[in-house]
Amino acid sequence: MKTAIVTGAAGGIGAAIATQFASTGATVVALDRSFTGMSEQASEAGHILSASFDVSNEGDWDRISRMVSERFGHIDALVNNAAIFNPVPFLDESVAGFQAVTEVNQLGTFLGMRAAVPLMPANGGAIVNVCSTGGLRGFSGAFAYSTSKWAIRGMTKVAARELAGRKIRVNAVHPGLVDTPMLGENTAENLAEMAAAVPLNRLARPEEIARLVMFLASPGSEYITGSEFTIDGGQTI
Ligand SMILES: NC(=O)c1ccc[n+]([C@@H]2O[C@H](COP(=O)([O-])OP(=O)(O)OC[C@H]3O[C@@H](n4cnc5c(N)ncnc54)[C@H](O)[C@@H]3O)[C@@H](O)[C@H]2O)c1
Repeated sequence: MKTAIVTGAAGGIGAAIATQFASTGATVVALDRSFTGMSEQASEAGHILSASFDVSNEGDWDRISRMVSERFGHIDALVNNAAIFNPVPFLDESVAGFQAVTEVNQLGTFLGMRAAVPLMPANGGAIVNVCSTGGLRGFSGAFAYSTSKWAIRGMTKVAARELAGRKIRVNAVHPGLVDTPMLGENTAENLAEMAAAVPLNRLARPEEIARLVMFLASPGSEYITGSEFTIDGGQTI
């Protein structure tokens, strides 16, 4: 993999993915709404270009697509990782709250996949959608988030079928509990309680999710498409 786009790259998992890709010599276009302007840094082996970006904004995808096409010519991989988590139960959810989550998590993933296809070369590419174990079951207390992750699973399958002829593979990963800012403010007691619910008895480290994403984005997984990979320390067994 030579060039990749990673969204939500300022966050726990996204930053780990961008760093791991760059450590293999890749050029990474790291996008996040919390970045300011555009900046570039050389990493150990590769190169990270960070840009301020909203995944739910079609114009932002057009702007980045033009920039990527002019500077790098093509991309080999896209990781749709940006998301927001809003722990609101079904009966308390508002239209505005539901739409806010849907726009970032679901629409953002759709726009990302759609923008990536024309940027991928004739010999194909890989798309990895970061989903959640919250999209494998009814995640009580997080109605919109869980719904958006179920939708991403569906989009992953349809896109995998439709893009197979272009040699573009599309897969999804389902992290369980990962030690990132998305878990919110937690006391040591809360964290210990969460870890106790996991058969492997700890939360995941962002780097562990990044390794799985890197495998799915690389040629080593060339016969895998439309698949889903749970990485949750056994929590959903
Ligand atoms: N942390 C967990 O326990 C966990 C569990 C399952 C799945 N996930 C998934 O992993 C992915 C990464 O989450 P994380 O844990 O690193 O969370 P995080 O909050 O640390 O990072 C998410 C990043 O997405 C960015 N973002 C949010 N809205 C955006 C937008 N509109 N445009 C661009 N960027 C935007 C944020 O600024 C943030 O940097 C998400 O898809 C999340 O649903 C996380």
